[in-house]
Amino acid sequence: MFWDQERLKKLIIERLSDFQIILVSNREPYMHVYRGGEVETIMPASGMAIALDSLMQTAGGTWVAAGSGEADREAVSSGDALLVPPQDPRYKLRRLWLTRQEEIDYYYGFANSALWPLCHVAYTRPRFDSGQWETYKSVNRKFAEVILSEVNDPRRTIIFIQDYHFALLPRMLKEDCPDLVVSQFWHIPWPNYEIFRICPWGAEILEGLLGNDLLGFHLQYHCNNFFDTVDRTLESRVDLERFSVFRQERETWVRPFPISIDFDRFEAWAKAPQTELRLQDLRHRLNLGGLKVGLGVDRLDYTKGIPERLEAVDIFFRKYPQYRERFTFIQLGPLSRLHIQSYKELNALVDSWEEEINSQYAQGRWKPVLVFKGHYSQEEVVAFYRLADVIVVNSLHDGMNLVAKEYVASRWDLNGALLLSPFTGAARELTGAYTVNPYNPEEIADTIFQALEDPVELKAARLAAMRARVQEHNIFHWSAQFLLALTQLPVTNLQT
Ligand code: G6P
Repeated sequence: MFWDQERLKKLIIERLSDFQIILVSNREPYMHVYRGGEVETIMPASGMAIALDSLMQTAGGTWVAAGSGEADREAVSSGDALLVPPQDPRYKLRRLWLTRQEEIDYYYGFANSALWPLCHVAYTRPRFDSGQWETYKSVNRKFAEVILSEVNDPRRTIIFIQDYHFALLPRMLKEDCPDLVVSQFWHIPWPNYEIFRICPWGAEILEGLLGNDLLGFHLQYHCNNFFDTVDRTLESRVDLERFSVFRQERETWVRPFPISIDFDRFEAWAKAPQTELRLQDLRHRLNLGGLKVGLGVDRLDYTKGIPERLEAVDIFFRKYPQYRERFTFIQLGPLSRLHIQSYKELNALVDSWEEEINSQYAQGRWKPVLVFKGHYSQEEVVAFYRLADVIVVNSLHDGMNLVAKEYVASRWDLNGALLLSPFTGAARELTGAYTVNPYNPEEIADTIFQALEDPVELKAARLAAMRARVQEHNIFHWSAQFLLALTQLPVTNLQT
């Protein structure tokens, strides 16, 4: 039997109904922005936030996150909170406000200029700055205080922290309130010891994470790297039988939980009559009548391999001229973390590839490449998924990559092809994909060609196998595995 919203709800009622669930992340699931003078609610370009929203809509509880929309302060009521989703409230979103300097040093600084490149081995150098590290600590402390203010009964509260913005938070919470059940999911890769050891504050980061009762990664491989890193950095006991770490009388369970998406939600969006209309509108507006379409969907991030992808498109048109005026490649790339130099450089590089390819091959009204950097709603992105004969997910390194799973869920018509980097967590599950080495644009170009030329039945069989996998291993399955692990923890107050 599949895990779905109903079954997850039943599990929560039966096993965890006495518990208050507090989810914590830096990025909030709903942001308020000004659009044409009006306040509008949008979901951010974060696969993490969108996937976790499905869990929270089922579980209820409180989600604590930094307010980041320009109209966010207008939308909260007393206690800096509001109920979401706005049209059908299911849980409480508690916003916390960071100062400009905190945002620069903690978010753009230590989290995204040190930890992000450190954990993603994409050959972008991490920058370590002691001032930014101090702010990272104080922002973790700030979150701890807000979270503690939301706790009703510490013996009946589960804290579920997301990601690398909060390596120190678990220990802070445990020290202040030992009765809390503290857990965390690390959404990005955990590198091997040789990579991690360059971090000047590596031991403190590990200490912080070992404040968790349960710590999840996507892959067994990331868990193994974590154990090895702890073993070689801290005085501790790594117990491979129990798959846990003992440090100063405390135990942290470490487990792999490959995250996924709300398959049904994406499939429903893909089947909606509205999507059909959007598809027709896109074909018309973008002048795509009769053309084959290639697609990339990523935040503009250097881990995603976007310049390599565009280089592949350039090679494709050179090597396979029969596809000129018959194929257009669309890149959706919402701007991301733009205050960081490496992201500015990436943005400029993407512009220059777009310009280069279009100036070489464009003919009349036909454009070989279209790049859109704005924000699109999930429903709009699904229309692009439906449009794409081929999607290219060639991340240089990626913890999971939910775009690959979203595409698969959206192609209920079994029409389309997924090109996937083996350096994504998703590649372990989506074995029906066409594998491409992201460092080899020539191979990507050849595989785009192959995928376009392959018989439809072959592509349908590949998609069907991948859809079956994602349909079963969906976000409710992931949530259930994580929550079940929590109920099995040796922490006494969870033995319901
Ligand atoms: C990755 C991270 C998430 C993050 C997302 C978007 O998926 O694991 O934690 O929310 O990127 O990045 P941003 O910096 O915009 O939140």
